[in-house]
Amino acid sequence: MSTDARSKIEKLREKIRYHERKYHEEFAPEISDPEFDKLMDELKGLEEVHPKLATPDSPTQRVGGEPVDEFKEVTHTRPMLSLDNTYSAEELREFDGRVRRLLPDTEFDYTVELKIDGLGVSLHYEDGVFVQGITRGHRFGDDVTPNLRTIRSLPLRLTPSVVPGDIEVRGEVYLKHKAFEWINAERKKAGEQLFVNPRNAAAGSLRQLDPRITASRPLNVFIYGLTAPEETPFQSHDEALAALEEAGFPVIERRRRLPTIEAVIEHCLAVEAERGRFDYDADGMVVKVDSFELQEKLASTAKHPRWAIAYKFPAEQATTTVERIDVNVGRTGAVTPVALLAPVRVGGATVSRATLHNEDEVSRKDIREGDTVLIERGGDVIPKVVEVITEKRTGREKSFVMPETCPACGAALHRAEGEAARRCTNAACPAQMRERIIHFARRAAMDIEHLGPKIVDQLIEAKLVGDVADLYGLTVEKLLPLERFAEKSAANLVAAIEASKGRGLDRLLFGLGIRHVGERGAGILAENFAGLDALIEVAKSKPDQLEELQEIGPIMAESLSRFFSEPRNLKIIEKLDAVGALTELARPEATISQVLEGMTVVLTGTLKGYTRREAAEAVEARGGRVAASVSPKTDYVIVGDEPGSKYDKALSLGIRSLNEAEFEEILAGRLPGPG
Ligand code: IVH
Repeated sequence: MSTDARSKIEKLREKIRYHERKYHEEFAPEISDPEFDKLMDELKGLEEVHPKLATPDSPTQRVGGEPVDEFKEVTHTRPMLSLDNTYSAEELREFDGRVRRLLPDTEFDYTVELKIDGLGVSLHYEDGVFVQGITRGHRFGDDVTPNLRTIRSLPLRLTPSVVPGDIEVRGEVYLKHKAFEWINAERKKAGEQLFVNPRNAAAGSLRQLDPRITASRPLNVFIYGLTAPEETPFQSHDEALAALEEAGFPVIERRRRLPTIEAVIEHCLAVEAERGRFDYDADGMVVKVDSFELQEKLASTAKHPRWAIAYKFPAEQATTTVERIDVNVGRTGAVTPVALLAPVRVGGATVSRATLHNEDEVSRKDIREGDTVLIERGGDVIPKVVEVITEKRTGREKSFVMPETCPACGAALHRAEGEAARRCTNAACPAQMRERIIHFARRAAMDIEHLGPKIVDQLIEAKLVGDVADLYGLTVEKLLPLERFAEKSAANLVAAIEASKGRGLDRLLFGLGIRHVGERGAGILAENFAGLDALIEVAKSKPDQLEELQEIGPIMAESLSRFFSEPRNLKIIEKLDAVGALTELARPEATISQVLEGMTVVLTGTLKGYTRREAAEAVEARGGRVAASVSPKTDYVIVGDEPGSKYDKALSLGIRSLNEAEFEEILAGRLPGPG
């Protein structure tokens, strides 16, 4: 074997590691992805020619793996239970009381450590080599081994003889704040939907069917325990974690072995006080009885171990000032107040906006421009204003007055009776137009790939589009002068727009963004009308007839009638027809695919693109049932912004939770792999 090859391989590895560090730790890549791939291919090639020089720590070991259609479901060797929660020192003392009653006259220590807000995984090693990794689930999980391999902090081979070679450990996959912000910044640049919080981003990244996508997300892992401690030489949790650390695992931080619950409480509160300084999301501390023998004695209930408990930190709060109250105009013209804040760090993220929902909320909380406010950030990036700190008022604050006219176009705003929102009445409003085009392109509507909010802004700015029909007039030549467009990206966008022409009447109706016409409504209309003309005819002249259709009520009928009586809208439809976008619009061949047939879905939190009702309708339209609470029978939990306890319950039962993007995949007829 030539020393030449050896030194070439070593040099390449060093170079690759350097660029990996730039990418995964500093988020400042110096070379492009294809250039990086080229280096990796070169190394792979050399290692193939010189198999003896291939080492387990080579960067090539972390890549590879072809995309899969779905994940393999695997049974855990032991259930992955969840932890019971406490929220105060008092509750921790009660936990201590329960443990002591179960262990009379026994002396023992506790181990306390951070609780990471990420995704639980179980990792299997054989002969010291990482062989399989499975996502958390009570009894079952998804085999995500190729994805876990891409996590650079996860050892692929353990330091020999520090821990048994055949070992199963459990831990939490997470994203550092910096990594999360970087991923979102990149997504924003690409006009893609942003992740709500680091946990969602980590979950979305780990559950990629294509490991190459996971590899591009700088995920991390912390190990917090052993699955079967009695099969190891270790007597206690603290001892085991110390050994795991020595064996090369990144072990959960702020770990302390302490003799009394009072010392435990002191440590919990001390860590709570400094948690703003962590560069990842920690949502509390975990208190565990240290001795494995005692853990076994205490055993578990069906859901939680009796030997451990979580102490949850309260939602992180901060004070800042409201610099301005701005208003946003949505697709349907709803005008929402938003507080622009002096940037402040809360829970590791910098926040500068808080939604104020509607004018009633602003007056109820009496939030004024210039006010000092207490804001709170739960797991999510968009925080809420808890209250105004009135003692800080100087008298120079300005009360918020909801504008009478649209901030984007100057048209009158109208607040309908019984509604919290004021709406812009101008159908040609540019702000509404922007949102309507974005909506039209959405996956559940016309599904135009490559057309995100950023691009829409560019198109409007360049006056290339004024309504959705103008999209079909775009050409490569027209796009090329725009920033960020090259021959290939321009051609891709034009092709994606072209491909949307035959989407079907249901998607077009939904995509037009007619108020009160959600996906379900659009589907019913499409089933009952042979084409758009027939629907327009009835909507204009005999809207009452629409109400005869099952599930179409007077509100939707009235809205349709209004929409199709508006000359501006009819003109857009004419234009769509002229460019050939309606040609294949005759009755859709298949009705909505029944992907959720027989399944139970629970909704929690606020979705960006759907009201609760629209989401429920969309689920039902696909054969699913929406339940109010999470139970072991739940198939999916759809998690929006600020999810409630249903989300925690889903996690604890190991039920597959989906973010909005994944939900939309289902709506488009594609079920994610089993969870
Ligand atoms: S111990 C049998 N320790 O919290 C108990 N879990 O509800 C096993 N988690 O999603 C859990 N940090 O993945 C334990 N230091 C820690 C943890 C931790 C985060 C996660 C775990 C699960 C949830 C428990």
